[in-house]
Amino acid sequence: MKNLIVANWKMNPNSQKEAKEIFDAIREGVRGLKSEVVVCPPSVYLYASIFGEGVVAMGAQNIYFEDKGAFTGEISALMLKDLGVTYTIIGHSERRKYFGETDETVNKKIKKALETGIKVIICIGETAEERDAGKKNEVLERQIKQGLAGITDLTNINIAYEPVWAIGTGNNCDVAEAKEAINFIKSVIGSTTVGSVVPENFRVLYGGSVKSENSGSYIKEAGANGLLVGGASLKADEFVKIVQSAE
Ligand code: PGA
Repeated sequence: MKNLIVANWKMNPNSQKEAKEIFDAIREGVRGLKSEVVVCPPSVYLYASIFGEGVVAMGAQNIYFEDKGAFTGEISALMLKDLGVTYTIIGHSERRKYFGETDETVNKKIKKALETGIKVIICIGETAEERDAGKKNEVLERQIKQGLAGITDLTNINIAYEPVWAIGTGNNCDVAEAKEAINFIKSVIGSTTVGSVVPENFRVLYGGSVKSENSGSYIKEAGANGLLVGGASLKADEFVKIVQSAE
């Protein structure tokens, strides 16, 4: 199973020129490496001429769960698929916090993406308050079970464990704590499948202040099958080092 390394550019950068520069440098830097690399830029930069010939997969940061119609400002999975998008992030904590995403909308979006043939990276994770209150596992279990309600085929699903307190703070999760959470997520996944078996290719990623100094340890020590990288993915050199650390 290949590691999955995902760049989440969030609402950056502010010009096509800059996007193309970062993108070109990432593509050349990761060419020939073993991991599967996905770049999720803002949707205005999701066009094939930026991405080039398939070294890096095209990813969206979000989709809407309806196919078409009067939903001002939204983008459908079908439109993204038509552009060549193969992955989408769903349920990022910033979407849950600022845009009213719930476990229910996450569930609808996952179903729509899978139905359209787009693979998903579902983000789950506890806030600092939930962690302090000893509710981490309860939150993770709820987000997994409600997010995946009614979904039996996990083939095209990846989960990113992103403790909310670690995102964009420089305060990355301790490797031992990440390992515990990753194992817990796999045990919940196992409990939702027939015969309690985690599908062989099921990947759990870590995200939250990943940089090249800490990235390798999540793969090698915490047992993550990939990484979701925000801030550091906008610096091509740094992102390439992160992908190299997973080799
Ligand atoms: P960060 O963001 O790497 O900047 O902490 C991660 C994410 O939000 O996916």
